[in-house]
Amino acid sequence: MDIGIDKLNFFTSDMYVDMGDLAEARNEDPNKYLIGIGQKKQAVISSSQDSVTLAANAAGKIVDDFERKNIDLILFGTESGVDSSKSAAVYLQGLLKINPQASGVELKQACFGLTAGIQLAMGHIMMNPNSRVLLVGSDIARYGINTAGEPTQGGGSVAMIMSAKPSILKINPGNAHLTKDIMDFWRPLYRKEALVDGKYSSREFIDFFDQTFNEYKERENLSTSDFDALIFHLPYTKMGLKALKSGLQGESEEVQKRLFDQFDASKQLNAEVGNLYTGSLYLSLISLLKKGKLQDNDLIGLFSYGSGAEGEFFTANTVPGFKSALENVDISWLDNRSQVSVSEYEDIYKSSLEFTDRDFVTEFKQDKSEFKFMGQTNQQRIYK
Ligand code: CAA
Repeated sequence: MDIGIDKLNFFTSDMYVDMGDLAEARNEDPNKYLIGIGQKKQAVISSSQDSVTLAANAAGKIVDDFERKNIDLILFGTESGVDSSKSAAVYLQGLLKINPQASGVELKQACFGLTAGIQLAMGHIMMNPNSRVLLVGSDIARYGINTAGEPTQGGGSVAMIMSAKPSILKINPGNAHLTKDIMDFWRPLYRKEALVDGKYSSREFIDFFDQTFNEYKERENLSTSDFDALIFHLPYTKMGLKALKSGLQGESEEVQKRLFDQFDASKQLNAEVGNLYTGSLYLSLISLLKKGKLQDNDLIGLFSYGSGAEGEFFTANTVPGFKSALENVDISWLDNRSQVSVSEYEDIYKSSLEFTDRDFVTEFKQDKSEFKFMGQTNQQRIYK
């Protein structure tokens, strides 16, 4: 049975801050952010969007009446949850009016949550061949104004439907996984901003990639030259480039050129949006599928990394005819976002609300998205 991705979409805010402007405001050379970090624009998320509405806006475009009736499982990967008890999957079920027989849970392990969902969906579909599973990875990446992590912020959501009749990607069973209890990046319950040991996290990322990539190749009897593309979780695009360089040491010029070219295509959208945490690897996948040079049945290697830390390398093949299925994945609207100044970004950043027991209303009137977070009444979140 071929199990994989049948539909894909992503969503982010319609506002961004230019990374050159941000660098100048922080007294840094713009090339540090543009080349050294590898980011051009960063999504600016208003207080009328949270991980639930970002997900609803991403998934709303692929959940039609057929899916509403047939989805039987909702897996919601996030590290920006809005409730310690109720899962974001249940909010999503309500907002998208998915049939009440569908079950849903939230999955958390830093940026690894959506990948964990994919592995769970593989098993679920194997047992239930008619199943259609809705998966989302949805987050807002926040480190704080004027911190080293600031140029690696961002936010957004990737949504996908997995089934036993995938029209885009067939996911291959098997993976190489590594878990290590480390403190490279974490966010205690009382904080909205992540704490991070930046340089350590970057070193661990590369080490996790090297170990899982080599382990996978050995298990599956594959060589690096067998891959048509290698893509990565991209907290910032230079991170993936560093890991790829490590993985391609000693390979022929031809293999290096092919895989660097494909990586270049796979980072384009991430450079325009910033870190999506759980969704980042899958935004990179959309970027590769839309902008890379792929043919039917090509082999893609995917490296997922969630700080704390879990890393996983797995593979997928493009399904014959995938290019026509991709016509529905619209990325053109990214070019029509509004640029905000650094001071406007700072104001929006500061307007993001603390978790509180008080009633409040968000500034939502400028937000043209279909789904919005309106505020809180009687300690209950109000969505529209
Ligand atoms: N022109 C070109 N390049 C320049 C430059 C210039 N004028 N000035 C500096 N650079 C380069 C530096 O040489 C450096 O390149 P290398 O990494 O290749 O050496 C790069 O720009 C960054 O410079 P610094 O290392 O001095 O930057 P920094 O100390 O300010 O912090 C960071 C960079 C560690 C990535 C920081 O932004 C951070 O902590 N980010 C958050 C943590 C993170 O994303 N970690 C990734 C792994 S963890 C993960 O993946 C999970 C997750 O999503 C968070």
